Amino acid sequence: MKIAVIGTGRMGTALARGIAGAHRELIIGARNANKATALAKQIGAQVEAGGISASIKAADLVVMALPYEANLAALKDVDASGKILVDVSNPITADFKDLLVGHTTSAAEELQARAPGARVVKAFNTIFSDLLPREARNGTSLQVFLASDDADAKRAVESLVRAMGFEPVDAGPLRNSRFLEPMGEMNIQFGFFLGRGTVAAPIWQRV
Ligand SMILES: NC(=O)c1ccc[n+]([C@@H]2O[C@H](COP(=O)([O-])OP(=O)(O)OC[C@H]3O[C@@H](n4cnc5c(N)ncnc54)[C@H](OP(=O)(O)O)[C@@H]3O)[C@@H](O)[C@H]2O)c1
Repeated sequence: MKIAVIGTGRMGTALARGIAGAHRELIIGARNANKATALAKQIGAQVEAGGISASIKAADLVVMALPYEANLAALKDVDASGKILVDVSNPITADFKDLLVGHTTSAAEELQARAPGARVVKAFNTIFSDLLPREARNGTSLQVFLASDDADAKRAVESLVRAMGFEPVDAGPLRNSRFLEPMGEMNIQFGFFLGRGTVAAPIWQRV
């Protein structure tokens, strides 16, 4: 199964490294193909690179690591039918303080509406990019919440999440992304505005 990571920012870079570290076949896509090529070269000779549409087309599982609105725009001109689309986004305002969508929809549901034939899985939105490298976690087990309407797609992402050293947690159908995304925003509030830094993540603790 070939995986594409779309985006070479903080999240795209860290996810691409983690996915390559989990020994998966990888292509990196970006609007500036030079950035994708440079990152691919840094990660390893076997990693491919390209533009956004070409990378989506080339992959079976696509991790969208662009800002929320850019994710939607990226899917406008490409047919993602049958592909697994992983939405890691928190649909936040430019100042990080509010959500752009919520209550009755979510970024993940909007992505699914934009790509009706794709199988969208919400994942990683409560994990800061700083905690994606295994060594940054100091052996702490962190949970990645997964929401999707497609059981096979969820299983595939679950396996990837595990291979990257996280504990996958089934968070139910895709519509539950409307509850996961506010958790992501609360994590941002803790990290950026309440002085706790980007080195913590929510876990669902069972007593
Ligand atoms: N950072 C985190 O800790 C974190 C944690 C959880 C979830 N997320 C989510 O991950 C996603 C990426 O966040 P980030 O922190 O990695 O952002 P970032 O560091 O600012 O990187 C953004 C990436 O998106 C690309 N991009 C921006 N606007 C675009 C557009 N209109 N069309 C095509 N590409 C565009 C940028 O390309 P250029 O280099 O060409 O500008 C860059 O590759 C967001 O949805 C965010 O909510 C982030």
